[in-house]
Amino acid sequence: MCGIVGYIGNKEKKEFLLNGLKELEYRGYDSAGIAVLKDGKIDSFRALGKLENLKEKTKNFFSDGFGLGIGHTRWATHGKPTEANAHPHSGDFSYIIHNGIIENYKELKDNLIAEGVHFLSQTDSEVIVHLFEKFIKEGFSSKEAFKKTISLLKGAFAILLITKNDKESIYFAKNAVPLIIGKSKDGEIFFSSSDAPLIGHCNEVIYLEDKSFGWANKDRIKLFVNKDKKEPQFVPLTIDKTYAQKDGYRFFMEKEIYEQANVAGETLMGRVCDNEIVLDELNELDLDKINEIKICACGTSYHAALTSAYLFERIGRIKCSVEIASEFRYKEPLLDQKILFIVISQSGETADTLEALKMAKKAGLQTLAICNVDNSSIVRLSDATLLTRAGIEKGVASTKAFATQILTLWMLALFIGQKFRKISKETLNLEIKALLHIPTVLQVKNSLHEKIRRLSKRYLHGHGFFFIGRDIFYPLALEGALKLKEISYLHAEGYPAGEMKHGPIALADSKLFTIALMPKNILYEKIKSNVEELSARDATILAISPLEFDLADDFIKTSMQDHPMSEFFEMMIITQILALEISIRLGNDVDMPRNLAKSVTVE
Ligand code: AGP
Repeated sequence: MCGIVGYIGNKEKKEFLLNGLKELEYRGYDSAGIAVLKDGKIDSFRALGKLENLKEKTKNFFSDGFGLGIGHTRWATHGKPTEANAHPHSGDFSYIIHNGIIENYKELKDNLIAEGVHFLSQTDSEVIVHLFEKFIKEGFSSKEAFKKTISLLKGAFAILLITKNDKESIYFAKNAVPLIIGKSKDGEIFFSSSDAPLIGHCNEVIYLEDKSFGWANKDRIKLFVNKDKKEPQFVPLTIDKTYAQKDGYRFFMEKEIYEQANVAGETLMGRVCDNEIVLDELNELDLDKINEIKICACGTSYHAALTSAYLFERIGRIKCSVEIASEFRYKEPLLDQKILFIVISQSGETADTLEALKMAKKAGLQTLAICNVDNSSIVRLSDATLLTRAGIEKGVASTKAFATQILTLWMLALFIGQKFRKISKETLNLEIKALLHIPTVLQVKNSLHEKIRRLSKRYLHGHGFFFIGRDIFYPLALEGALKLKEISYLHAEGYPAGEMKHGPIALADSKLFTIALMPKNILYEKIKSNVEELSARDATILAISPLEFDLADDFIKTSMQDHPMSEFFEMMIITQILALEISIRLGNDVDMPRNLAKSVTVE
């Protein structure tokens, strides 16, 4: 996810911009750039990859004395990660940086091209600078031109613009993407997409509201909200960096749970178009040669794989098997070249998954990585990659990585069904509608979080937890149990509900906690009778369902959704928050649980 910084003042601008971008690195990026306006001249630098590359490019550039600077880290959405697509984007005399998505860019771009404007990048962002310059050329002042430009943009944006037409000001706009303005005691002005780059530089900030825009120079900030003039309201800036990076959440895991709605949108972006699934990344593969899928992964990624196996067979109508990577490595598997070999990994560095991938490559199979970290070992080795676009995940207990893996795999199952004509147009439309609804489902309601927080105090003891579910809710039960055990250190198991009577039900008594995932859209009557059997043996039951269930000790009511995947994601959030709240009550370090590492690079 992109990051933005800006500066107005006398100090060395490059220094603040590069250090500020460094603070935003955790958001993830694939290119970076800066532009500095000083003495009527704009210098701009862009580099692909790490900030070190940009540092290297700017090593002989200095910019002390009064001036303006803007800096950006880009996480590719529209257009590949290339230097041409990196920000700042320029026109003839102005430069912009932008986070978010300009939804109507295509239409704006087509109009500008028709008027003879030449575009240098594939991004949606570039239209902003050309629109601005078009209005200047038509005779408008910079301020009027900026106002007019912003009024034409639809979508989400945080924008900074500098122009030779106004050597004193940075122009800014914000809608649905964060942007902060800071002020130092020495009268410097700062911009940033989050608090962290500002700490140590300024003591007061404005957290801009949606639909804000304006311009700032060293003497004043002119702010409009919804086109109405507004007096800027500064508030004190927090001084704790880690707290700032957590955006006020208690733990990174909590922040990441709440981020899921946003990152789900990023995952879907550009991949669901006009009622079909478009996965250009798969052009590297010859899918006509495959008739089967095999997936290898570990931990949470393995649970995502298990979930997807239901989707591949049910909607993609393609045979799919799933293996734990550490088991696969030593079983001397039979590998047929008609198998598409998929590895799933958040980090892209998991040793067992990487080795499984090497085995598949050696056997001549086509390979595909579903991964969150671009340029990781797994991505570099695979024939093709679908990036999950969750942004950097800091909590050891994976949350948003899981959600985005599932979304990516669901799209892949639809893509395969679509490609081999195994899915009807009608079903595809319904599935796409459901996919697009997921970012809404993933929004965490305060009332739900509060209910789970209160409930959690009853689940701090006992001799164990069983998370049970059927169909795709079985891997979700496995994942719910893994989340809980990772951060609470309580014993938890995930089980297919129908299997309980084949052994585990012997454990049932009042101290056995059963977390029952009871969706209405898949096998409700079946799971209901499985839970009744446990209730009859006095197990303590927390039922999660949209349908009232009298035999439960505790009940979390989910919403009435039409699609099982919506129910899946809603229940996923509940199990994540339950694990979080139990762990917090037990006083554990949620983000860094004992004995665990974020990236498991050893066997
Ligand atoms: C998830 O909460 C875990 N920390 C762990 O199971 C993780 O999913 C596993 O180690 C695999 O990691 P990867 O996705 O980076 O390959």
